[in-house]
Amino acid sequence: MRISVIGCGYLGAVHAACMAELGHDVVGVDVDERKVAELSAGRAPFFEPGLPEVLERATASGRLRFTTDMSEAAGAQVHFVAVGTPQTAGSHAADLTYVDAAVQGLLPHLSEGDLVVGKSTVPVGTAARLAEVVRASSPGADLAWNPEFLREGFAVADTVSPDRFVYGVPAGADGERATALLDAVYETALATGTPRIVTDYATAELVKVSANAFLATKISFINAMAEIAEATGADVTQLADAIGHDARIGRRFLNAGIGFGGGCLPKDIRAFQARADELGLDSLAFLADVDAVNLRRRERVVTLADELVGGAAGSRVAVLGLAFKPDSDDVRDSPALDVARRLHEMGAHVAVFDPEANVTAARLAPQLDYAPDAETALRGADVVLVLTEWREFKALDPETVGSLVAQKRIVDGRNVLDLTAWRAAGFDARGLGRP
Ligand code: UGA
Repeated sequence: MRISVIGCGYLGAVHAACMAELGHDVVGVDVDERKVAELSAGRAPFFEPGLPEVLERATASGRLRFTTDMSEAAGAQVHFVAVGTPQTAGSHAADLTYVDAAVQGLLPHLSEGDLVVGKSTVPVGTAARLAEVVRASSPGADLAWNPEFLREGFAVADTVSPDRFVYGVPAGADGERATALLDAVYETALATGTPRIVTDYATAELVKVSANAFLATKISFINAMAEIAEATGADVTQLADAIGHDARIGRRFLNAGIGFGGGCLPKDIRAFQARADELGLDSLAFLADVDAVNLRRRERVVTLADELVGGAAGSRVAVLGLAFKPDSDDVRDSPALDVARRLHEMGAHVAVFDPEANVTAARLAPQLDYAPDAETALRGADVVLVLTEWREFKALDPETVGSLVAQKRIVDGRNVLDLTAWRAAGFDARGLGRP
């Protein structure tokens, strides 16, 4: 099938490449010339395991191309809209500028029978509004909402074989037609039994934001338990293991630590609350607490580091990890980068290292001292903060680290280190929510 993908960021670039990998003929459209040039050369403009290989294969096969020219979307039958919905400056609501512009830009190029498919995360009500716009401008064209659940670091696998598909479609025969088109797009995964939920627009939009709200709540729940554990001498990691054995609760997304960040969870819970406020509902008031618990964890690490060195000003801090999670170079709303910046503001000399995110972080926080490797960052440190759980940090040898630092102090911001082993090597080793 001929497919266009409008917006080639994390979501769109991966979606375009994976759709071509599945055998479709795909054109990716983006306004950013640099991004289009990189992608056209078969290179991923960001770090995502597995993506370079898929891009290379797909561009070589001739089934995938990228352009800045929206008119090249003409001729595709399905048009995915995968642009960003950032937080609006000065408010918590989602900024729909790019979604609206993408749909407006597509309108002159739509033909009868085309389906515009929204993948961006949007406030409930957006799809119904945009469906009117599409139908009014291009009779015979229609719109569906098909939210995306991919995780950075696993984006290729999540796109090719997701947990489930959700289609928000209009009622009646139009909905059946939209469903058939999406089924043809996702034929490969559907053939292996991937569940698919066909529903109305509002439900599809809400599935996406409520899934992220639930995940954020789960993380903040365990981080709230970490606060209680800190006050009572309990161990939140054992608590998580124990409650996680209850299949109704489950162990995943119960890792206490420095909290969640990234381009999705923080902004999505805020936009979801803003939408509920618009609807005059208090139902999501608890998400303000989810957000507050999350942000307190960052503060906790800053305070702990400050206390350990007896005042951050003039101290040397080594920060290992800047990305919001491992296997990513994404530093959007990264708790690690936030902590590093705050300690710098308090007058510490902050040496930082991330295996992939040094470059992306340096664009946002050039004031930090970027080390080429962990060893350089660690040399002479008064305290070490492990803030992103990259494999190489989990595997650090306490003796080796001990021979590099000035003072043997370490904070495990992700609860991934064996504190007993670090203490045995003479470290004052602290976890979050652990004695
Ligand atoms: C999240 C969702 O997991 C995806 O399903 C969704 O598609 C995506 O947002 C999106 O809306 O686009 P992602 O932002 O890639 O995916 O990252 P997650 O794996 O959800 O992690 C988010 C943050 O939570 C990270 O900072 C991570 O370190 C933190 N986290 C995660 C914890 O602090 N504890 C945990 O137990 C799990």
